[in-house]
Amino acid sequence: MTMKPEDAVRYEVRDRVAVLTIDFPPVNALGEPMRRGLMARFDQAQADPAADAMVIVGANDKFIAGADIREFGLPKSGPMQSEIQAKMEKADKPVVVAIDGYALGGGFEVALAAHYRVAASRAKVGLPEVNLGLLPGAGGTQRATRLAGPAVALAMILGGNQIPAAKALQLGLVDAVAEGDVTEAAIAFARQKVAEGGPWPVVIERTDKVTGIDPQFFADMRAKNAAKWKGMVAPFKIVDCVEAATRLEAREGLVFEKEAFKACNDAPSRAAQVHLFFAERAAAKVEGVSPEIKPKKIRSVGVIGAGTMGGGITMCLANAGLVVKLLDSSQAAIDAGLARVKDNYQTSVARGSTSQDKVDAALGRIETVLDYAGFADVDMIIEAVFENMDVKHEVFRKIDAVAKPGAVRASNTSALDIDQVARATKRPQDVIGMHFFSPANVMKLVEVVRGDLASPETIVTAMAFGKQIGKVPVLAGNCPGFIGNRILARYGAEGDVLMLEGSTPWQVDDALKEFGFPMGIYLMRDMAGLDVSLGVRRNAIETGAVDPDAPDFVPLLERICEAGRLGQKTGAGFYKYDGRKASPDPEVAEMLTRISAEKGVTRREIADEEIVWRVLLAMVNEGAKIVEEGIAQRASDIDVTYTFGYGFPKYRGGPMFWAEQQGLDKVLAKVREYEARYGARWAPAKLLVERGEAGTGWKG
Ligand code: 3HC
Ligand code: NAI
Repeated sequence: MTMKPEDAVRYEVRDRVAVLTIDFPPVNALGEPMRRGLMARFDQAQADPAADAMVIVGANDKFIAGADIREFGLPKSGPMQSEIQAKMEKADKPVVVAIDGYALGGGFEVALAAHYRVAASRAKVGLPEVNLGLLPGAGGTQRATRLAGPAVALAMILGGNQIPAAKALQLGLVDAVAEGDVTEAAIAFARQKVAEGGPWPVVIERTDKVTGIDPQFFADMRAKNAAKWKGMVAPFKIVDCVEAATRLEAREGLVFEKEAFKACNDAPSRAAQVHLFFAERAAAKVEGVSPEIKPKKIRSVGVIGAGTMGGGITMCLANAGLVVKLLDSSQAAIDAGLARVKDNYQTSVARGSTSQDKVDAALGRIETVLDYAGFADVDMIIEAVFENMDVKHEVFRKIDAVAKPGAVRASNTSALDIDQVARATKRPQDVIGMHFFSPANVMKLVEVVRGDLASPETIVTAMAFGKQIGKVPVLAGNCPGFIGNRILARYGAEGDVLMLEGSTPWQVDDALKEFGFPMGIYLMRDMAGLDVSLGVRRNAIETGAVDPDAPDFVPLLERICEAGRLGQKTGAGFYKYDGRKASPDPEVAEMLTRISAEKGVTRREIADEEIVWRVLLAMVNEGAKIVEEGIAQRASDIDVTYTFGYGFPKYRGGPMFWAEQQGLDKVLAKVREYEARYGARWAPAKLLVERGEAGTGWKG
């Protein structure tokens, strides 16, 4: 970055108030030129006899997005953020920040070092460092606790959420909220403070909110979350820091926080989570499409099928402020679908995750229709009808008859060939797959499946639309299973072979849980219903993707289903259930013993480490094939898919990042070892051979 500091922060005096305007694209992060600029302009304002006060504001309707993440891990030069903040606190003129857009992480920490904080009503503040495996390391844990008390500070820092201005005012995190121009409001605010006279309040000197706190509060917080935070560093350190703010003197608290920040910064989880931050943003980019091609604006959407997925998609769209028309084949199906949507909303209200007002507004945006004529004016149509090609064709023909030209036609198919769907329509260029995950109103991932016939405009529209509705879109090519389920099929099969050799569903699941997955393969299948797994398997056998006569085919799923065990809903599956509580079942262990005997396999003890390596390497090798075939645009897209859609622990950065951390040479050697032992299913991907032999990362 070659920007001059004086360009990164501009200076002017208005009404005897120095206005320091940070203009450091794209997000006014605290990169070196910006820090230099801020320090220089601050000194200028301090020394300026024409200024009685100062207002710090960000250009382009945003304050500061935090530390410059691109600088992480590099040696730092220029003034430190903490030095600038210390000067702000000591200033003899009142320092007011004017927050528009967002003040996040280090950005909100700068705000906390000002004497006063004025926010625009549309602004949001937050300390999201935890999402990067970090904690607020420039005094945020100490100042937020002193300003708003430990409960608010912990909720804010552990949650990492963006808090709207009105709520921030209520919590005492800002001093005023302005409806109009926030810079003008902050200038007026500063002038009033000058008129009232000093001294100006300094957050770090406050003690009223941090005295008399019961240490049990922190002990409980740690105990309650121990399982959830397993393997992570930052959440525990955050609790330590907030606790420190309640028992240490300010200066010591800041030193404590600095050390805790260093521990997080040095932990592997920081590198993993920063990788994911950039991976998520890279995933949104479509290679090879001219920047001239812009996404179409989507304001209204038609959804076909009011079942599990259609209902969830409808909620997600309505929550994002879109007008939705929901269609099903009968009034009864629509009524049942809408009733489920309302039920889900009520559960969220009861849980406190949304308000009745928001739900009412969302429901007000949903209209039900029985006739396709209702879709004549919508910008996009998403179908989520039964997973059957004939039904899909019929639905797309009906769409053809009414949709306006250029309206995007998306299919939520989880396994069908999207080109085959597209070819049966009059406008194949407008057809795209949008593979949502269940529950669609909750799960962040959406695979945008690009068929050969989709136009670049349709592709970029679907990607931008994914982001518009709050999802994390990943572009996938058209192949059985796309990215996510294709990888799942491969490592699921490896899990089965591990059981054939001597393991059990619970051992495989426990080993994966220990690695950091929220749940293992078999518990997940039991929850989804084994009829679903069996359907997928039969389809794979029919298409020749799976050979039931192969020595490594494990018919446990078939045997379990034959015994009437369809998963949690029938009280038994890979596990047996007492309500929702799963426990190992000797009957399943016996089935496995029998299958191993039939296949002539002598069962052996299998170490958890072998389970984890074989499952992960199966993921990684298939992932490498997917990249090499161009099904995924880049290796990091697989990390995004797996962390946002399949529960891969974020603090490990995704399977492909994990493999890079192990060393691709070591990964290749291990895959070759398995190939020698097991044959073709372990043939290494060409990309893995290339990168492993070259000793590089995935990018070469
Ligand atoms: N540093 C460097 N680059 C950043 C950045 C940051 N803090 N935040 C965003 N960017 C970059 C993105 O990589 C992206 O670059 P690209 O165009 O080359 O891909 C560009 O800015 C735009 O970002 P988004 O696509 O995410 O834009 P949005 O408008 O959707 O979102 C945002 C903006 C809400 C600011 C979002 O980018 C965000 O959440 N950023 C991270 C905020 C954060 O985590 N801050 C804490 C940093 S850690 C810290 O402050 C430590 C301190 O306590 C010491
Ligand atoms: P579902 O059975 O819950 O819902 C399907 C709905 O479509 C029903 O309400 C049905 O009445 C309606 N429907 C069927 N034919 C229709 C027609 N010709 N016209 C109008 N409406 C019609 O099914 P689900 O689970 O919601 O799946 C829908 C699609 O989403 C399938 O393609 C499935 O593969 C895919 N999918 C499912 C996931 C899941 O976990 N359930 C995950 C991701 C994708």
